Amino acid sequence: MLTVDNLKNLKGKVVIVRVDFNVPLKDGVVRDDNRVRAALPTIQKLIDEGARVVLLSHLGKIKHKEEPDVVKAQMIKNNLVVVAPVLGELLGKKVAFSAATRGADFEKAVAALNDGDVLLVQNTRYEKGEEKNDPELAAAWAKVADAYVMDAFGSAHRAHASTYGIPEILKGEGKPVACGYLVEKEIANLTRCVDVKDSDRPYVAILGGLKVSDKIKVIDSLLKKCDKIIIGGAMAYTFKKALGMETGNSPVEDDQLDYARKCLKEAEGKIVLPVDSVVTDAFEGWTVRMVVTDNVPAGMQGMDIGPESEKLFANEIAKAKMIFWNGPMGVFEQKEFSSGTIAICKAVAGLKNAFSVCGGGDSAAAIKEFGYKEAFSHVSTGGGASLEMIENDGHLPGVDILR
Ligand code: 3PG
Repeated sequence: MLTVDNLKNLKGKVVIVRVDFNVPLKDGVVRDDNRVRAALPTIQKLIDEGARVVLLSHLGKIKHKEEPDVVKAQMIKNNLVVVAPVLGELLGKKVAFSAATRGADFEKAVAALNDGDVLLVQNTRYEKGEEKNDPELAAAWAKVADAYVMDAFGSAHRAHASTYGIPEILKGEGKPVACGYLVEKEIANLTRCVDVKDSDRPYVAILGGLKVSDKIKVIDSLLKKCDKIIIGGAMAYTFKKALGMETGNSPVEDDQLDYARKCLKEAEGKIVLPVDSVVTDAFEGWTVRMVVTDNVPAGMQGMDIGPESEKLFANEIAKAKMIFWNGPMGVFEQKEFSSGTIAICKAVAGLKNAFSVCGGGDSAAAIKEFGYKEAFSHVSTGGGASLEMIENDGHLPGVDILR
């Protein structure tokens, strides 16, 4: 696979860069510019080489099958124009914006670029064909490009027109396709969690979040690769119920109980579950909050792991040479239920000479909020992409097509 460093003679060439500027917005303002910052090294390198940089990204979800009014509202909400000044500020140069996603106006905007200029194009998902990898759409983009760089790690698990269709066409035309610095770094770090070396053992995975059903493939894969799997968060209650414990009103997926039993049997002691919970009488507007061991009483629900579980999990983490973490231990957004997730952060921060990866999504937001970003060897910018990389033994469509 070529990297951006392998691309030569870029002066005056149009390079399409797929970035992941799917940033959180509040009232039309970018709330967290992390993903924009993550793409800067690649964009800066191309500017320095005198390329004419055309940036493609999606933002949010646009469901084209909905009523026209609904689609219009989703488009207004997910207008990528707000990212152009944020990027301009970070690059210290003006970033042009193309409201047209293809056609004459888009091509005019590309043709107006001088060497080293940057053009951000409107949300790729304004186009119906993006998520279907429509060949006509991919061709409309590919036709302006001399080269393609994939730096949208967070979208590399999607085989869409902008992540798969364009490089497929350009490769067929003998034009260079490469990964950017962000994708290169993400792949190097996550590959270590997939192709596990003996020197990285014990390898401990920590999984949390709401649903077992969302994590079946990753659990199956980690059971083969890891020495221990710590399971916290709401998904732990499905495993506890599978063991015959009372779970009260905790969110349990009854249709996953058989799967949980199968895992527990096959795991041969690898799975570590919480031994106590912080429970409340309601999710919102709760009036009773207490710690219970094992069984959750009727009418109560689990909101976080309890203090004994924090110690148990910290003990397992302390033995690890490698950590992969995805999913919070509780409702960490509320202070009263953040202790379990913070305990994981602290335990990882206490490791010496261990390699630790946080797989993006909510857990990445949590470690940032609690000030533990530096404690991890790598914090992925892709929630879904990092999980799929683990599930599919290192394969992602948006990366495989570059090979
Ligand atoms: C993400 O936020 O995980 C990526 O940008 C991918 O977004 P998607 O799940 O809407 O494809």
